[in-house]
Amino acid sequence: MASDAAGAPDILSPEFAADPYPAYEVLRSDFPLLWHEATRSHVISRYADVERALKDPVFTNRNYDWQLEPVHGRTILQMDGREHAAKRALVTPAFRGRALADRFMPVIERVGDELIGAFAADGRVDLVEGFSTRFPIRVIVDMLGLPPGDHELFHRWYTAIVAFISNLAQDPEVAEAGLRTKEELEAHVLPIVERRRAEPGDDLLSTLCTAEIDGVRMSDEEIKSFVSLLLAAGGETTDKAITCLVRNLLDHPGQLAAVRADRSLIDRAFAETMRYSPVVQMVMRQPDADVELSGGTIPAGSTVTCLLAAANRDPARYDRPDEFDLFRTDLDVARAFTAGANHTAFALGRHFCVGAQLARAEVNVGVGRLLDVAPDLRLAPGFTPVDTGVFTRAPERLLVEFTPA
Ligand code: HEM
Repeated sequence: MASDAAGAPDILSPEFAADPYPAYEVLRSDFPLLWHEATRSHVISRYADVERALKDPVFTNRNYDWQLEPVHGRTILQMDGREHAAKRALVTPAFRGRALADRFMPVIERVGDELIGAFAADGRVDLVEGFSTRFPIRVIVDMLGLPPGDHELFHRWYTAIVAFISNLAQDPEVAEAGLRTKEELEAHVLPIVERRRAEPGDDLLSTLCTAEIDGVRMSDEEIKSFVSLLLAAGGETTDKAITCLVRNLLDHPGQLAAVRADRSLIDRAFAETMRYSPVVQMVMRQPDADVELSGGTIPAGSTVTCLLAAANRDPARYDRPDEFDLFRTDLDVARAFTAGANHTAFALGRHFCVGAQLARAEVNVGVGRLLDVAPDLRLAPGFTPVDTGVFTRAPERLLVEFTPA
């Protein structure tokens, strides 16, 4: 197995943070299994290896405790086996099919219209600040049935939680803000949990408060952790996905024109965005037994960093992997938002993203409405988007202009 001293790219270096894709290429071809001392993890990058780590039950999620437990408490992301399946099943029905269409689509449309309406007449907006960071968090707050007046508060908390989780460099101020947030969120949410237990409504929080597993209800602490996870997982990822999708289309005017003419192509553009520039660039796993992968053996109990973004550009899996092409035929769009996906952006297997269909609905509504109000959407003159983030990644700002419709 390669050691990270032998000229291999460093996933914590400034060069990597500036643009990880050249490093992903070197890792895939020359260091498919690399020990990275600073994160004390084995880094894997080939599609076949990452797919195996996500799907094979020998790989557990226990290693997430250090990263998630301090801010969220215990969530389904850290669980495995029966406990994971039972608690995950409490929320999955709300995030797909009729429940999504009937109960939550109106929320998505209302919030999307409201936020886009706020800048539609201006002809200029930073899409990140003015739209992407506000849209998914408002939708999930609404779905949970949390007080709508508290959007700003939840926005601040989820930003602090996400910074804590991404804090690979272990900045003490970021760590402290994340820990403070856990307490503030708890103090805010627990009285609401108490009220919902007494008087349940038809919101997702009421479902969590009243559901029973083997005749036992979840504790207040468990419910609070679920809420905390849903806010962070449902907010940041979709927020960055919308920004990446719009940026990718602006970079490819021919494909933008095609989407403008046929809105059903937003789905294809979203699936290809998830392959080409996945928001969650890496996830961690921990095998229960020794495992053979490309390049050697991963010992039981060690941490594995699965580079989702590197797998998604593996030439062994995709033709012209470094090209953004929403018409590509080697990405199965019909399955791109299901656990049968042939890209890794939502993970695969039993921890496959619970909210992929919700994200899809939000992206379709958000991008569709944006194209309605901004028929000639373009980057503001002189502005170049800069991607930031190692764990999750997207342009920090997206300054666009348009002639108001
Ligand atoms: C899990 C990505 C949107 C809720 C995951 C995982 C990934 C992911 C990679 C697996 C993490 C791991 O196994 O280590 C994304 C992306 C999204 C998105 C790229 C948007 C484009 C959402 C939304 C929600 C959500 C809107 C809902 C509120 C969850 C939950 C899990 C999860 C609850 C944990 C599932 C489990 O452990 O069984 N997501 N996500 N996600 N996601 Fe998403």
